[in-house]
Amino acid sequence: MESVVGVDDLRRRVQQWRRDGERVAFVPTMGNLHAGHGNLAKQARTQADRVVVSIFVNPLQFGPNEDFAAYPRTPAEDRVLLEALNVDLLFTPEVAEMYPRGQAATARVQVPDLDNILCGAFRPGHFTGVATIVTKLLNLVQPDVAFFGEKDFQQLMIIRRAVTDLCMPIEIVGVQTMREPDGLAMSSRNRYLTPQQRALAPRIYDELDLARVAIEAGNNDFGALEQAGFEALQQAGFQPDYFSIRDAATLGEPQAGAEVVILTAARNGRARLIDNVRAASRMR
Ligand code: PAF
Repeated sequence: MESVVGVDDLRRRVQQWRRDGERVAFVPTMGNLHAGHGNLAKQARTQADRVVVSIFVNPLQFGPNEDFAAYPRTPAEDRVLLEALNVDLLFTPEVAEMYPRGQAATARVQVPDLDNILCGAFRPGHFTGVATIVTKLLNLVQPDVAFFGEKDFQQLMIIRRAVTDLCMPIEIVGVQTMREPDGLAMSSRNRYLTPQQRALAPRIYDELDLARVAIEAGNNDFGALEQAGFEALQQAGFQPDYFSIRDAATLGEPQAGAEVVILTAARNGRARLIDNVRAASRMR
């Protein structure tokens, strides 16, 4: 696996592959890689001649009181995993390389409506930070196809919208969430959990799945299901931000008979965990 830090080196390498007619896949990450990221790289491997992975902890997507400084950074372990997955090129830019004029002075990509609901309501500016860095990375790598995890369902939808609206000729593939054997969605932030918090954490998936089962059995009282899920998480010891049922295609109001997505974000000690599950709702 080759490794580059500078944007010029990255462009040169990928341009050479393009000239040779090779198909390029891209997996952007913030590092501290786990099997979920591994799965993205594996999928990428099956769909392209060349696989590029980036590791960049993007300051623009962290709020002033969030965990940018503490976000786990494990470059040596990440490299071993990516080598084993036969990744061709690892891009690990410095902050100054991605924001040479500073973050505040950099042009931004904002995706209206989708960016201020759910997680966006609790993390102002977060999705603008995500859409901006993903756009910059996509413009640098210019892949044919890029892979993102479905765990970050709202993020995936915002990236799809940005790519469509800004006419980027790139296919965006969402990859199913990888879970621990007890159901907990894999996440770099699971590292923050104490053993006691880790034991509680699978309740998030349990509550999402309970709502899914109810919806698929014909319960369309979405408001009551949202309230029940929120309260169950609260009573279990989480501090939930939201427990919400939305239309899976738009994140708008859920409609009976359509595919819906049940999404939650809940604090468990230091960790803010997010997860989602889709459900096929039925006409009454
Ligand atoms: O999901 C992530 O790890 C990040 O939000 C992403 C897409 C790499 C942008 O920094």
